[in-house]
Amino acid sequence: MNYKFPPHFLWGHATSSYQIEGAHDVDGRRPSIWDTFCDTPGKIEDKSHGQIACDHYNRWTEDLDLIKSLNAQAYRFSIAWPRVIPSGTGPVNSKGLGFYDQLVDGLLDRGIEPCVTLYHWDLPQILQDQGGWVERNIVEAFNEYTHAVSQKLGDRVKLWITHNEPWCASVLGYENGEHAPGHKDVLLAMRAAHHLLLSHGTATEIIRSNVANAHVGITVNLCPAYSASQSEADKKATQFFDGTFNRWFMDPLYKGTYPQDVIEERFRLGQLKEPALDYVHEGDLEKIKTPTDFIGINYYSRAIIRDNNISEEENEPRELFDPPKEELTEMGWEVYPPGLYDLMMRVHHDYAPKAIYITENGAAFKDSVNEDGQIEDTKRIKYFQDHLSELHKAIVDKVPIQGYFAWSFMDNFEWAFGYTKRFGIVRVDYDTQKRTVKNSGKWLKTVYDQNGF
Ligand code: FCB
Repeated sequence: MNYKFPPHFLWGHATSSYQIEGAHDVDGRRPSIWDTFCDTPGKIEDKSHGQIACDHYNRWTEDLDLIKSLNAQAYRFSIAWPRVIPSGTGPVNSKGLGFYDQLVDGLLDRGIEPCVTLYHWDLPQILQDQGGWVERNIVEAFNEYTHAVSQKLGDRVKLWITHNEPWCASVLGYENGEHAPGHKDVLLAMRAAHHLLLSHGTATEIIRSNVANAHVGITVNLCPAYSASQSEADKKATQFFDGTFNRWFMDPLYKGTYPQDVIEERFRLGQLKEPALDYVHEGDLEKIKTPTDFIGINYYSRAIIRDNNISEEENEPRELFDPPKEELTEMGWEVYPPGLYDLMMRVHHDYAPKAIYITENGAAFKDSVNEDGQIEDTKRIKYFQDHLSELHKAIVDKVPIQGYFAWSFMDNFEWAFGYTKRFGIVRVDYDTQKRTVKNSGKWLKTVYDQNGF
């Protein structure tokens, strides 16, 4: 074996509620912002929605059996707020919460450790109607929801993630309009990001008070940024990208500040005007900085940044490089395993979290089923293999990485791309809901079993 992982390293698979559950109007669930977004023409590539998805709500026992058979020691899933508190705030829907209650028991019966994400983007629509993450009162609503869930499941669930990818929830949702709720306003995105972070801090305290021996953290998607050349302009653009994408979230979480260089650049670009950041109240940053037990990191790719606002001549001298085409996934994301190593070293050095879990890593490729019914997804196997090698290298270099969750346990609804992208290590035939383990799933199964490869 070339890569042996530390004892007690936690291996698992990940999913999220809206992407797999279906059963959109069952047992009291009310619409989320993603139901609304899917109903809006032009938003989802194949015009699909999550109304049925992988029908996991009805097939969860079969799915848990499969997860078990793949040797996962842990399973990361998210809870649908619109099932648990369908009106956003107020009465808890016992049937909705009951679904997760039995799921947790089902996992524990099979010897699998549950890892709960409280918010993976399916905000109750009714809260969006009141402004969603832009308005400060969302924090109180999230606290209430966190309290209900952690009180119910906290006797059995020890691993808690407050939010999944606040960058996506704020920037894709409120600035680019690519995700629900589909706004296009940088100031709204900044407010949303702040309230997501603030609610992470307050929820962390709530989970701790309801759950003995809780292990609490947040999951961020980080993207190491490399300058396309050594020109000053490109380097500056890279710093800004890094600031908005990575530091805007990591600095408040670990240092209790928002990065000043980003604020200044936003002023220069005319994106910010006085009074800037007036939505940040006294004491907020202290709350955001509430100590956590770990950081969850989702890593898919890197970014190569160039300054596109000035002419080529002004930006000389520079030698640009473009990654070769075959190294792109179906998402158009470059396959760049060393980025994971660089990221681990950087996070360890700049922020020193107590522990790190890779809470998502994986790739979408076009899969085909061969005559024998096998899915020979060799590119995906290579993707996992190369990323795990880089992760191992970071562990050898003393970064406290404690677990790895593959994205995703099965093919599912890939947000704005609908069902056109397949990230699963298990194939889902959406006509029949048949699940077939891909070769990558079989490969990971042996890795998880042997604690390495
Ligand atoms: C992440 C999301 C996850 C999935 C992967 C491909 O940004 O957290 O739900 O869509 O990307």
